[in-house]
Amino acid sequence: MNNEMQLNLNSEQERRRQYLVSLKRFANLALQDKVRKLSHAKHETALEAELKRPLEQTDRDDRHRLAERLTPEPLFKAWETMTYVSQTMMWDLVSDIVEADLPRLNESAERLTRTHPAGGSLQLDPDIELPPTIGNHEIHRQPGGFTYEHGEDDITAGAFYAGASLVYGPGKRVNAPAGYGAGQFVAGEVKRRFPNFKPRTILEIGCGAGRNTMAYPVAFPDAEITSIDCAAGLLRFAHAHAEAEGVPIHFRQMNAEQMDFEDESFDLVVSTIVGHETSWEGLPKIVAECWRVLKPGGVILHQDVPTQVNRLGLADQVMNEWQIAHNGEPFWMGWAEADLIAIMKAAGYPAERCFAEHAGSGPVWFVHGASKP
Ligand SMILES: C[S@@+](CC[C@H](N)C(=O)[O-])C[C@H]1O[C@@H](n2cnc3c(N)ncnc32)[C@H](O)[C@@H]1O
Repeated sequence: MNNEMQLNLNSEQERRRQYLVSLKRFANLALQDKVRKLSHAKHETALEAELKRPLEQTDRDDRHRLAERLTPEPLFKAWETMTYVSQTMMWDLVSDIVEADLPRLNESAERLTRTHPAGGSLQLDPDIELPPTIGNHEIHRQPGGFTYEHGEDDITAGAFYAGASLVYGPGKRVNAPAGYGAGQFVAGEVKRRFPNFKPRTILEIGCGAGRNTMAYPVAFPDAEITSIDCAAGLLRFAHAHAEAEGVPIHFRQMNAEQMDFEDESFDLVVSTIVGHETSWEGLPKIVAECWRVLKPGGVILHQDVPTQVNRLGLADQVMNEWQIAHNGEPFWMGWAEADLIAIMKAAGYPAERCFAEHAGSGPVWFVHGASKP
């Protein structure tokens, strides 16, 4: 069934989208691989000879030594230019799509929010204290950022997010139908790791425009689902999208670093690609809050990008570090260096019940979480 909150593309926009997906795939996959090979063959070997020891994956100085050699390479310049330009072109395309389709989307969102036919709800907090990572940055270089607001019913930020997901995932060959891939993956991991677990209350943190949210009512049809985000424009869009899909989700604007929920409120706490968009200060607070609101016998499972420094070669780390300075990913390396097991233990999670590892065989993701005794 077609969800009326999906963006409509005309044939010219669809052709541009396909071109951009190819361009991003070339930059993200083929070109990135060439940079990796050049780094290994020319610079890593030379650096090891110079240092008279193997390079350390987790050593920042080694990463910076390699960056000094690798970043002036014409091949690296080609990669960074293509990565930057394809992102600019993506936002140009998404702006065109949203500008043309916004009147129709606004009409649908207004009706769906007024009538909420699926029985979900939307609760915004005009006094929210935004985490600086989200409030002060244009994450992914999204124009106006996630917290863009132009009036109290504005869904533009959500429409932009939804538009970008038509290019972003496919551009990394993460071909999730309608963007539901990561949510389905999380639900599947919960079932695989905890086969007898039947959550009745689910909390999703950092739901964004709510596309991955759609996987949870499918996987856990008897559960009541609450999804929070700190960005109002994303939540308005997510709410209308869920109502159009016919699933009752309760969306609330809240900072996950300091949630309004009572202790032990939820059986299952989940998220998709949120941790890498937090900060050194925010991440431990979110980890602690998830534990606080989790019921005894409950489960936490977060999915995120697999960029941890102990698992990634130095050339990839150099390219990821470039994303911080140039491509709207302020916590990319912080996330990569964060020791999630240590952070969970510091928040009181029992060590033997924590996990933080790579998982998945289509796209490989990083998952972390725990179960509560
Ligand atoms: C990359 S988006 C992922 C959105 C969604 N989970 C998805 O899979 O498409 C990260 C989201 O986390 C939200 N977020 C980041 N820090 C947050 C915080 N402290 N409290 C609430 N939401 C937060 C952002 O606003 C953004 O919507």
